[in-house]
Amino acid sequence: MYYIGVDLGTSSVKILLVDEAGTVCKSVSQTYPLEFPQPGWSQQNPEDWWNAVRTLIPQLLEGIDPAQVKGLAAGGQMHGLVALDKDDTVIRPAILWNDGRTGKETEEMNAHYGKEKLLELCGNIAFAGFTAPKLLWMRKHEPENFAKIAKIMLPKDYVVYKLTGVHSCDMSDAAGMLLMDVKNRCWSQELLRYCGISESQMPKLYESYEKVGCVLPDVAKELGLTAETVVAAGAGDNAAAAVGTGTVGDCACNVSLGTSGTVFISSKEFRLPPEGNLHAFAHADGTYHLMGCILSAASAYGWWTKDILKAISDNEEQSPITEDELGNNPVFFLPYLMGERSPHNDPDARGAFLGMTMDTSRHQMTQAILEGVAFAIRDSVEIARGLGLHLIQSGLCGGGAKSPLWRTIIANVLQMELHVPMSEEGAGYGGAILAMVASGAYPSVEAACDKLRSECRVYKPDPAIAARYEERYQVYRKLYPALKAVYPAMAKTKE
Ligand code: XUL
Repeated sequence: MYYIGVDLGTSSVKILLVDEAGTVCKSVSQTYPLEFPQPGWSQQNPEDWWNAVRTLIPQLLEGIDPAQVKGLAAGGQMHGLVALDKDDTVIRPAILWNDGRTGKETEEMNAHYGKEKLLELCGNIAFAGFTAPKLLWMRKHEPENFAKIAKIMLPKDYVVYKLTGVHSCDMSDAAGMLLMDVKNRCWSQELLRYCGISESQMPKLYESYEKVGCVLPDVAKELGLTAETVVAAGAGDNAAAAVGTGTVGDCACNVSLGTSGTVFISSKEFRLPPEGNLHAFAHADGTYHLMGCILSAASAYGWWTKDILKAISDNEEQSPITEDELGNNPVFFLPYLMGERSPHNDPDARGAFLGMTMDTSRHQMTQAILEGVAFAIRDSVEIARGLGLHLIQSGLCGGGAKSPLWRTIIANVLQMELHVPMSEEGAGYGGAILAMVASGAYPSVEAACDKLRSECRVYKPDPAIAARYEERYQVYRKLYPALKAVYPAMAKTKE
């Protein structure tokens, strides 16, 4: 038997074919365009996601008996607003998770309710990337488009809709809309009302591992599947990736170095960070999690090495950075290229190199990028530690986790033992596990993760390097407060 796991990312979609023993038999991927129509804005055409999926699945299934493919599920980029009209046609490009146009609406929402009330309603405060402020922005700036909305959903739900004809959303992804009462796993009537949306415009809620439907007959024919292939609701990419690395149960931790960088902490009980400075979301296994998210992680490294340096290879850029330089770099980098979510909640924040002199080298600046991302993630880890969570070990996944140097830096900056799966397949692998549960191959996500746990390479912090990084981190954490006051003036030059 085979299961398909889709990782619907920000720069590309990657699709895996996984057998029942958890072996990845084949993977295919395709990139799609990302538009930045103004500084800090970020949007994508949902049709591009679907076209990529319908091109790739037939390639994935070449030589495979369709009757052997039992299920499919996707992990998808979170928070993106997909708006459909009464004919289920996409109204405008999806406004993505890393889009900062909603600064005003975010502030208004936080001020309207106050932190305490919003936390009570949905477990979270408003952040610019979340879906509800995007609706408020659309209502204010594009009233004609807003009036056409018959259904809203999140990116991977659009793919599920194209496959099954059902408007669905799973709990882990819905939690990031700021329209859901996360603790009680239902839509918040109060927040829907505030955003001018009725429940009939919302997709139906499912647990991530629940069956939404089967692939529509004509779609099955086109893709090389059968009309019995089960489609599960799927999950937000971080929850799916956490399932993929076995991050389930109480206080298990996973760090992801994708376009965004996240720290994800699973929790059997609903936990509410009193300041709302970590997200309190639902997990894909039916429980909950806490999460901190930085908006530029592997994407900051990609910007620097590809767009700026036009580097030939990662190896060439990273190999001059030797172990004795770790924790000794005079250069700092703030990775706020798309503004910042956790913990600053500041869409006006911008990237910065600091501490350069006439003898600063190219490789020190590259090293500063890797370290800046690690320090930014540490900010969220510190908040979790402040809540009394004992974080000494974590999984590590995402494109950035392929670099041994970055793994070493992350282990020492976070002071955590890192477990990096030998064959790391991220959210797509978690998607395949959710498809297995929805198709009845396993009774629960936890049981599937126990059985399919993959072998890991372990990175332990080195006491001397970790001590040096501790000193550097104490400097890093003073940089954002020092720059905060000038960011709004900088942002004014953007139009
Ligand atoms: C999480 C978040 C990002 C995206 C990336 O809150 O916004 O991790 O899900 O795809």
